[in-house]
Amino acid sequence: MDKDILNAIEEKYKSAGQDPNTYLKGLLHNKYLNYWDYIEVDTLLSLQKPRTNFSDEPIFIMYHQVTELLLKLITHEVKQIVDNPSIEISVFANKIERVNRYAGILTQSFSVMREGMDYDQYNQFRLSLAPASGFQSAQFRFLELYFTDVHLLVNSRVKNQVNAESEMNYLFDNLYWKDAGLDHKTGKKSLLLQHFEDKYIDSLKATANIYKGKNVYQRYLKLNQNDDEVKKLKIALRDFDNTYNVVWTLAHLKTAEYYLNSKGENKAATGGSEWQKYLHPSYQRRIFFPELWTKEEIENWGK
Ligand code: HEM
Repeated sequence: MDKDILNAIEEKYKSAGQDPNTYLKGLLHNKYLNYWDYIEVDTLLSLQKPRTNFSDEPIFIMYHQVTELLLKLITHEVKQIVDNPSIEISVFANKIERVNRYAGILTQSFSVMREGMDYDQYNQFRLSLAPASGFQSAQFRFLELYFTDVHLLVNSRVKNQVNAESEMNYLFDNLYWKDAGLDHKTGKKSLLLQHFEDKYIDSLKATANIYKGKNVYQRYLKLNQNDDEVKKLKIALRDFDNTYNVVWTLAHLKTAEYYLNSKGENKAATGGSEWQKYLHPSYQRRIFFPELWTKEEIENWGK
């Protein structure tokens, strides 16, 4: 046996006040690891619980789960950027490239929804899902706060009147996504929105406060824009803004149009939003990194 390894083991446990022999004897009895325990395959495969007997409903569930895992992979990378104030630029850029790979998978695979389910089955099993909607994906909303400033995520009615110093509660009252379920005249909220806010609004606000001034966009703006590495990072960030906020958004909207409006019936969505207007990228104008785009590119966002 390698003496250096034995010495390192001895050193590790002794420095923690432990007897190394206890741990070495424990190794004798340890079971071998196997794939199914490590990957938690049984748990993973037991998480699909359709609400109807339609054979295509599990596809809908699993594809949403795949999306949540990819959003978790994006979160995993972006948190390492925003939580590390001294990250090297090359590592920052590398992480955004990883994020782009995941966002690419999300956009390329959306055909699983658009072409991979039977139209009539979808339109029947979806009726048992109201008032739930992918709108209630919390990871989607937390990611926005890791990537950009809250004042850039407000609706177009107040966008020109707010800035980084605006009051957080005011910004939250005017987040663009409230338009999916808030009647701005009466203040009445749809169930979709009420349920989501009851569960997540406090932690979303706490996250917004933590990452104010240190989200990905702010971190980028503080770098020297003439540095070659920063130029590379800029390309990767533009790529992400476009893939996530335009390409994915349009693939999603086209899918909604196919199932809910291809025969001109304009069906109500499970979440009850005015989805044809709300889901369009040119209406939402969700742009994480506005400084990276020209005035013209911003005007034509999502068109
Ligand atoms: C047949 C497939 C799909 C259809 C027809 C569809 C339809 C819709 C509609 C109509 C909305 C607006 C809210 C509402 O009134 O319900 C919405 C929102 C949303 N959906 Fe989907 N969706 C589909 C698949 C997915 C998938 C696979 C995901 C991945 C998690 C997803 C994530 C979202 C998100 C994040 C929103 C909020 C978008 C935003 O605020 O910009 N959807 N969806």
